Order: sequence, then C-alpha cells, then structure tokens
Amino acid sequence: MSEIYEKLLHCLECVRKKTSFVPKIAIVLGSGLGDFADLIRIECEIAYSEIDGFPVSTVPGHAGKFIFGYVEDIPVVCMKGRVHFYEGYPISDVVLPVRLMKLMGANILLLTNASGGVNSSFHAGDLMLIKDHISLFAPNPLIGANIDELGVRFPDMSIVYDQEIQNIIRKTAYEQGIGLQEGVYAQLTGPSFESPAEIRMLRTLGCDAVGMSTVVEAIAANHCGMKIGGISCVCNLAAGMTRSPLSHEEVQEAAKKASADFKKLVYESIRHMREDLEELE
Ligand code: HPA
Repeated sequence: MSEIYEKLLHCLECVRKKTSFVPKIAIVLGSGLGDFADLIRIECEIAYSEIDGFPVSTVPGHAGKFIFGYVEDIPVVCMKGRVHFYEGYPISDVVLPVRLMKLMGANILLLTNASGGVNSSFHAGDLMLIKDHISLFAPNPLIGANIDELGVRFPDMSIVYDQEIQNIIRKTAYEQGIGLQEGVYAQLTGPSFESPAEIRMLRTLGCDAVGMSTVVEAIAANHCGMKIGGISCVCNLAAGMTRSPLSHEEVQEAAKKASADFKKLVYESIRHMREDLEELE
C-alpha cells in the first residue's frame, strides 16, 4: 500500500475515533468565506491539529477545522480553512483533506475560493461559477505511484465540474437574485500575487479568475470519483487592472462583503441538490 494512502487511512482512523458522522456533501470554504459554517446545524467539530499527520494551515483567516452538521437534513462536512501548496506542504498533503472527506463518505464536493478577477468585465465582489480550470506551475497531485484504491492512473478530465451541479448553482443564483459570473479558474502557486504580465498571459490563455488553490483539489477529487462544484468569490481585480496594490487584507475584506450572497448561494444550492441529485435521494 502506498505511504500516502496509509497516511490517509490513519487520518480516517483518527476522525473515526472522534465521530461516526457520515457526510454526503463536503464543502471547502475559501479565504474569508468561513462564515458559511454558521448556517449549518453543527453536530461536532474536529480541529485539524487533533488529526495525526494532518497538514495544519498557517494562513490568517484559515482557522483549521472540520465542521460536521446538517443543511436541513443533509449531512455535510465543511472545511473551515484549507492547506495551500505555498505553505510548503507536499502536494499529497494539500489534497489529503479532500480525499479524507471522500473516505468519510462524501461523494459531492463543493470547492470555494477567493480569487482575483482576470476577465475585464468582472468587478470586485462578483461570484463566479467555475466551469473549468487551468493549472499552472502547481504540481499535479496524482504524480507518483497511482493509488489504485482511489482511482485510475489516467483519469479523464473532460468534465471536472459536474454539469448538474453547475445548473443547480445557476438556477439558485437566478432564484435568489444573486448575480453570477461564469468562467475558467486558474491556479498558480502563490504566495506572491501575479505580475501584470502574468495576468495578461492568463487572459490570453482564456482564464477569467486566478487564485492559489482549488485546482489541485479538483484533480484529486475527480480522480477518486467525486462530483464537483466550484464557486469563486472574485475579491479584487487582478494585478495591473487597477492602480491599487493587492493585499491579503483587501481580499479578506472583499470576501466578507460578498459573504452574505455567497452563504445564501451555497446554502440554497445544497437544498436544491437534495431535489435534483440522485446521490442525495
Ligand atoms: N491573485 C491570486 N490569488 C488571489 C487573488 C489574486 O489577485 N485575489 C484573491 N486570491
């Protein structure tokens, strides 16, 4: 058995010593978007630091814990705080949490993040449905011996962001009167923000928003057969698109402002999933 899989099973064992909760939906909350967890009926919480070997986030605004609970009667697990490649963890650790939530029982994954807008028609505070992604410079998390217990060596990536989930998110935004952009999200490594020339490059490549997470998690989740949805909170226009310099504080501030709509969109989308997705029947 691969070391990475062994570590994953050990983390699962640690979780199972603390809770037998079986989530159906896993939700990764992006920077500044952790308040979503206030909406769920909480059953229990596990700090990442309580799980042996689990990577612990060092970024302010990414307090690290799993929150288990219910959206209406749908069992969910939220990650308040994620781990980024730029923190220095091996890429297998960066995707460990997503794989762990799959092993806990979640077959649906909602990935959320804060991003910079690359598309010049976007505004700070916009929410964007992630339709596809581009990975630049972060290693592919599937490099190394394939973990056959999780998935195949050469996974298809034609449809990473599930079309039914995309439609549910679109429908929900429309019903709730929440503006929703759509586009392609690019993950770069960070932690420095991009240069204006890199942003022009990304625009030429067809990217609409850029950030430092999500894509590697989506690759790992797609590998292990999860149904994925993605929502990005465009917190600023990317480098070179305005006169002002970028800062993490500005990103968090903008995420906070968008957070009411974000929370509503995620919560109501999950309620619709109950009606529309076979997995939740
Ligand atoms: N670039 C990369 N990541 C980000 C940005 C950005 O402009 N804004 C929020 N996360």
